Amino acid sequence: MSGNTSKNLSAENRLAWETKRLDAWNLAFGGPKAEAERIIANPRHTLRRLLPYLPDVKDQHVCSVQGSHGRVAVAFSALGAKAHVVDFSEENSMFALALAQAAGVPLDYTVCDILEAEKYVTPKTFDILVLELGILHYHQDLDRFFTVMRRLAKDGSLLLVNEFHPTQRKLFWTSGPQDYFSEELIEGEVPNPNDDGQKLGVCRYRFWTLGEIVTATLRNGFRLQLLDEHPDWDDPKQPGTFTLLSKAVV
Ligand SMILES: C[S@@+](CC[C@H](N)C(=O)[O-])C[C@H]1O[C@@H](n2cnc3c(N)ncnc32)[C@H](O)[C@@H]1O
Repeated sequence: MSGNTSKNLSAENRLAWETKRLDAWNLAFGGPKAEAERIIANPRHTLRRLLPYLPDVKDQHVCSVQGSHGRVAVAFSALGAKAHVVDFSEENSMFALALAQAAGVPLDYTVCDILEAEKYVTPKTFDILVLELGILHYHQDLDRFFTVMRRLAKDGSLLLVNEFHPTQRKLFWTSGPQDYFSEELIEGEVPNPNDDGQKLGVCRYRFWTLGEIVTATLRNGFRLQLLDEHPDWDDPKQPGTFTLLSKAVV
């Protein structure tokens, strides 16, 4: 895919993530104050899928990659981490910064395409990079994406990916391609956290196989520590999500 086509796709996806997003988060969470109270009451609960894989995060520089509304980053900040979100949606950033303020914790938020993060964030800044549920399918070139991750990561730092399992997205999900090896871009509604029937916009997604994801991390400066597969929330006989932990090597 040419650079221009990739930029156009990113712009289309960004538009969908900036449409009525602040209203959607306010409705879903009852506003930043209510959600901040819930996170501060138990930040470990917000991070329950991530913390078992991480050392103590106090004073660690954590990047919530495409961290959206900032819930994950605010919970890290509540545990004493230096939390930073990079995400291309201005409306997401407005909710996240209001959330951090209501929670009384610091948060850095850089609004930009993650592939251009190096223009705004000093290389080798982060001790921990966290990618959570719905990140990789926004990218059409995983090598390029993980090259950026490696440049943002300090040597020896951790990359933690907690993602939808490729079989779940590619085979079992009704909006998916129903073909594990499909390389097609799939058009789909951008997630709406509310059951109000509103359509907030359309994104184009590229779903990756597990092999492609693992290989792209290995090829771009990360050494695999573990790969856990977790049961689907609705049908525990199928894989639903996976966790990949890897270390940035020189
Ligand atoms: C499904 S959400 C991930 C939310 C995550 N589970 C969390 O709780 O923080 C996907 C996020 O990716 C962001 N995004 C998609 N493509 C991006 C890109 N190229 N650069 C930066 N952010 C991007 C969207 O704005 C959105 O916030």
